[in-house]
Amino acid sequence: EKGGFDSFMDKEIHDQPQAVADTLRGRTDASGALVLDDLRIDESVLRAVNKIIVVACGTAAYSGHVAKYAIEHWCRIPVEVELAHEFRYRDPIVDEKTLVVAVTQSGETMDTLMAVRHAREQGAKVISIVNTHGSTIPRESDAVLYTHAGPEIAVASTKAFLAQITAAYLLGLYLAQLRGNKFPDEISTLLDDLRDMPRKIQTVIERGEYVRATARSMEDSDKVLFLGRHVGFPVALEGALKLKELAYIHAEGFAAGELKHGPIALIDEGQPVFVVVPSPRGRDSLHSKIISNIQEIRARGARTLVIAEDGDDAVRGYADEIFWIPKAPTLLQPLLAVVPLQIFAMALATAKGLDVDQPRNLAKSVTVE
Ligand code: BG6
Repeated sequence: EKGGFDSFMDKEIHDQPQAVADTLRGRTDASGALVLDDLRIDESVLRAVNKIIVVACGTAAYSGHVAKYAIEHWCRIPVEVELAHEFRYRDPIVDEKTLVVAVTQSGETMDTLMAVRHAREQGAKVISIVNTHGSTIPRESDAVLYTHAGPEIAVASTKAFLAQITAAYLLGLYLAQLRGNKFPDEISTLLDDLRDMPRKIQTVIERGEYVRATARSMEDSDKVLFLGRHVGFPVALEGALKLKELAYIHAEGFAAGELKHGPIALIDEGQPVFVVVPSPRGRDSLHSKIISNIQEIRARGARTLVIAEDGDDAVRGYADEIFWIPKAPTLLQPLLAVVPLQIFAMALATAKGLDVDQPRNLAKSVTVE
C-alpha cells in the first residue's frame, strides 16, 4: 500500500530513515562490539582477505562505489567495484583471498548471480548484501548481510540504496574491527555517527518541497549534468541515473575534477548542473576544489543547483539554487546528498505526467543476462 502517498516511490523515499535505522538495528553485542550474525564466514578467512571486489548492477553498483571510499579508508584493503556483467566476462583475477561482495535489492538479478557463481568457482568467498529474503543470490553466497529496507515496489531504487550503503559500511567497520585497523572506541564513534543519520535523512525529506518546486520549473530541460568529488561522485552518478530512469532526460554524472578534461565543453548558457558539495570541515581541500569547479561552470553560463551542508556560506555566491542538508562526516554525506536528487527526479517526472513507479522499458528485477 502507498500509505497515503501519490506513488510507491514517494512512500519509499519517506521510508528511508526507517530503512537505515532498521539496517543498523541489532548489530552490536552488550559490549558495543559489532556482531554480524548472518556473516557465516570463518574469521580467519576474513582476516586473510587481501582484496575486495564489489559486483552489482544499476543503483546497487553505485552503493558499492560509495562503500569503496569508506572500506579502503577504514580497512586499508583495496576495493574494486565492477558492474557484474563486466566482471563475469573479463577473466577477473580472483582467488581464495578475494572477498566478493554482491549487492542486490532483489537478490535475483541474473547478471549479479552469474558474477557470484563465477567468483566462487575461482575460489573466492562471496558475501551478498540483499534486501529480499529467500531470494536466489543469498542462497548461492557464502554469507549474507541483509538490508532491512522492507519491500521496495517502485522500479527505481531509493530506500534500498541507502540501506545498501549502510550495510556495506557495517561490513567495512566489522572488517576493521576484526583486523584490528581501528580501536573499539573509533568503531563505536563511527557507529554513533551512523545511528544519527536517520534523523538527518528525515530533515532532508522535510525540506523536499523546495526541491519539488525547482523540479516543476525545469520540466522542459533536455539535458542535466551532475558533478561530485570523492563520495559525492557516485552520488552524482546516481542522481543522473534517477533522472534518466524516471524523467527520460539525458543526464550524466561526472567526477568534478574530470570537468576540465572534457565535459566542460558541454556547458553552455542555462545548462542545469547539480553539484554535490562536500563538507567544508572535511580534509584534503575537497571543498575548495569543488567551489572552483562551480565557478568554472558558472563563468560559462551554467545554472548551478548546489547541494551543500548547513552553514556552508561559501557556496552562496555561486549557486543559483541551494538544497541544504544537515552536517555529517564526509563519508556519511551520501546518505543525505542523494535524497534531494531522488526527490528532484520524481517531481520532474511527475510534472511531465509520467508514471514514476513503472518507468517505460524497465523492470524491477532483471532475471535474464
Ligand atoms: C535494474 C533496476 O534493472 O536492476 C534497478 O531497474 C536496479 O533499479 C538494478 O538498481 C539492480 O537490481 P538489484 O535487484 O540487483 O539491486
